[in-house]
Amino acid sequence: MHDAHKSNLEKGMLFATASQTGDEIRGHIRGSGRFYIAVLEGEIVGVGAVRFQNIDMWFHRGFCADTISVGVKQAYKGLGISKMLYRKLEEAAFEKCDIVIMNTAERNEIMINSRLHDGWIPVDYLSHAGINFYSIMLAKWKYNCPYSSTHCATMFHLRKVRMKLIRDENGNDRLLTTILKRIVSNCPR
Ligand SMILES: CC(C)(COP(=O)(O)OP(=O)(O)OC[C@H]1O[C@@H](n2cnc3c(N)ncnc32)[C@H](O)[C@@H]1OP(=O)(O)O)[C@@H](O)C(=O)NCCC(=O)NCCS
Repeated sequence: MHDAHKSNLEKGMLFATASQTGDEIRGHIRGSGRFYIAVLEGEIVGVGAVRFQNIDMWFHRGFCADTISVGVKQAYKGLGISKMLYRKLEEAAFEKCDIVIMNTAERNEIMINSRLHDGWIPVDYLSHAGINFYSIMLAKWKYNCPYSSTHCATMFHLRKVRMKLIRDENGNDRLLTTILKRIVSNCPR
């Protein structure tokens, strides 16, 4: 992962997964998921994993697959390895449920464009403590997305505006959010 993320580091994006080891990825998939490696002439050139969890989001409530830790070694990028990994990840996801999600940096254009090209839909906009960028969540349904494209686009943009108002790209509450939280916590119950 360290080698795969060099290009992101050069662009100033500090992914929490950038220094993950294989054992740590295995820990994240918690037994029920799957961890794939792409091997070329005996060398591991790409990795990717899918895990399963329950989510409670506007577009889905319940069991869901989540693809994580996808990365391809610098020297092997652009050869279709991540597309191949994604085919396996989606297959594994759709064996167990009807929806799969993923998160990536808003500025990770290669990953985002590739997922959009492959039928994934932006559904949420997030900011996490410990990483230095806004993230986009994309989803793909096994069959058709149950919402219209206009509804998804509207919800995504509303979530984006909301997140930009309440939190900065480092996951810190904006001043207004801190003040509002203080007011709420001081309200008599
Ligand atoms: C993002 C990443 C996984 C892509 O892996 P890859 O094996 O090089 O990608 P592929 O060769 O399978 O190409 C996937 C798509 O990206 C496009 N692409 C690949 N390299 C590109 C480049 N340098 N510039 C523009 N587009 C590019 C391909 O044309 C393809 O597009 P399509 O799906 O629309 O046909 C890889 O660049 C990487 O490891 N990045 C760092 C780690 C990372 O960001 N992981 C994702 C965290 S969520």
